[in-house]
Amino acid sequence: MAPSLLAADFACLGEQAAAVEAAGADWLHLDVMDGHFVPNISFGPLVLKALRQQVRIPFDVHLMIAPADPYIAAFAEAGADHIIVHAEAGPHLHRSLQLIRSLGKRAGVALNPGTPADAVAHVLDVADLVLVMTVNPGFGGQAFIPGQLAKVAEVRDMVAGRPIAIIVDGGINAATAPQAMAAGATVLVAGTAVFGAGDLRAAMDGMRGAA
Ligand code: DX5
Ligand code: ZN
Repeated sequence: MAPSLLAADFACLGEQAAAVEAAGADWLHLDVMDGHFVPNISFGPLVLKALRQQVRIPFDVHLMIAPADPYIAAFAEAGADHIIVHAEAGPHLHRSLQLIRSLGKRAGVALNPGTPADAVAHVLDVADLVLVMTVNPGFGGQAFIPGQLAKVAEVRDMVAGRPIAIIVDGGINAATAPQAMAAGATVLVAGTAVFGAGDLRAAMDGMRGAA
């Protein structure tokens, strides 16, 4: 379970990050947006670095930026544990993943809803995570796109036998999480459904199916 800080109160990000960690979050998902690759701007490495002092769980950093390569080292230094780049963000996906791994971080690829699963077929040897967007990236609080479940299942079949996490991101809540897990997702990212809930732990357990 990887809560997305995008749905937290930005006036007290450190406290919100610590609160989800205390409530049992496995990873903290950090959505970096540049106003170019996606039509929204969020935060960069300085904010990550400050948050790194507040929490110990792995930082799952989702880069919605293009180009990504010039900034990967800065996010690694700021405290990212996983760095996920979009397959659509540049012409050299394999090189980006090699760069992330060369910095000692787990490397991930994200796929927009319009991008086929095949986009990851030839980079699986250099990938630790595949993130299937279940909304169009840029904003929290959007409706889950059910058609993406077929892609999650395709990715599951493709990665079979490899230690690659399959992440779903966008519109995940207690209703959509079981569908995503049935299709093969192993990690759930959720913003609104966690931070919008009164009880963070109950919200996360509900999605895990552990409530
Ligand atoms: C969207 C981000 C998501 C977002 C999910 O571009 O990648 O991580 O925060 O938010 P919810 O869970 O509200 O759809
Ligand atoms: Zn995300």
